[in-house]
Amino acid sequence: MFIEVKNAVKQYGSGESLIRAMDGVDFTAEKGEITVILGPSGSGKSTLLNMLGGIDSPDSGLIRIGETELTSQGKSGLSEYRRKHVGFVFQSYNLIPDLTVRENVEVVADISKDPLSIDELLETLNLTKQKHKFPRELSGGQQQRCAIARALVKNPQILLCDELTGALDSKSSRDVLTMLEKINREYKTTIVIITHNEGISGMADRIIRIHDGKIVENSMNSRKLPVSELQI
Ligand SMILES: Nc1ncnc2c1ncn2[C@@H]1O[C@H](COP(=O)(O)OP(=O)(O)OP(=O)(O)O)[C@@H](O)[C@H]1O
Ligand SMILES: [Mg+2]
Repeated sequence: MFIEVKNAVKQYGSGESLIRAMDGVDFTAEKGEITVILGPSGSGKSTLLNMLGGIDSPDSGLIRIGETELTSQGKSGLSEYRRKHVGFVFQSYNLIPDLTVRENVEVVADISKDPLSIDELLETLNLTKQKHKFPRELSGGQQQRCAIARALVKNPQILLCDELTGALDSKSSRDVLTMLEKINREYKTTIVIITHNEGISGMADRIIRIHDGKIVENSMNSRKLPVSELQI
């Protein structure tokens, strides 16, 4: 298996205000799978995704992605893992304000071993006209697509998306998801998507539901749909 999470625990605060954001999470997924994570607000979805991306570490338990055991890495090991292998689309966009759309993508391509073509990627994400604009000159959806271009350009082994389509209308959501479907097919990229949109779970190989820091469902999707047939 490509993703392995074993008995991961993450607590915040203490005493009365103690929160178990992850309360003994076990989860595995195979290479090339699309996993969709669903669950109410505050249930621990972003916490789990941040751990898979090496941005945060659990208090106890094990996390392994591919060859890398994240839970035994120090700071520099984790940062190398993030740089080489992970594409992350955050709940907030995290664009660099002083760089244009193209430059935002270029800075990531420059430090990547095998980057995709920036102009092709921007074309696919329907951003060619916005190429030379700054983030403050873009709509929310355009900023989101630029963030996705940044995550994809390094052609990562694992792509982690937190509320990828939360700010998009259904047409743009479909375009972006079609793009992920294509990346997944062409490069066997392992993809994990957090969403509140049940319809998106139709495109998953694996569906995970989280409640109060616990995984309450981990099942394979017996009726996987192409993005064009999703009810979103
Ligand atoms: N840095 C932090 N300090 C304290 N508590 C935190 C921190 N990060 C997350 N939490 C708490 O951990 C719990 C899980 O948060 P998390 O962000 O993982 O939820 P989520 O499922 O992503 O929710 P949403 O759908 O609203 O984004 C919440 O109760 C949250 O308040
Ligand atoms: Mg979240």
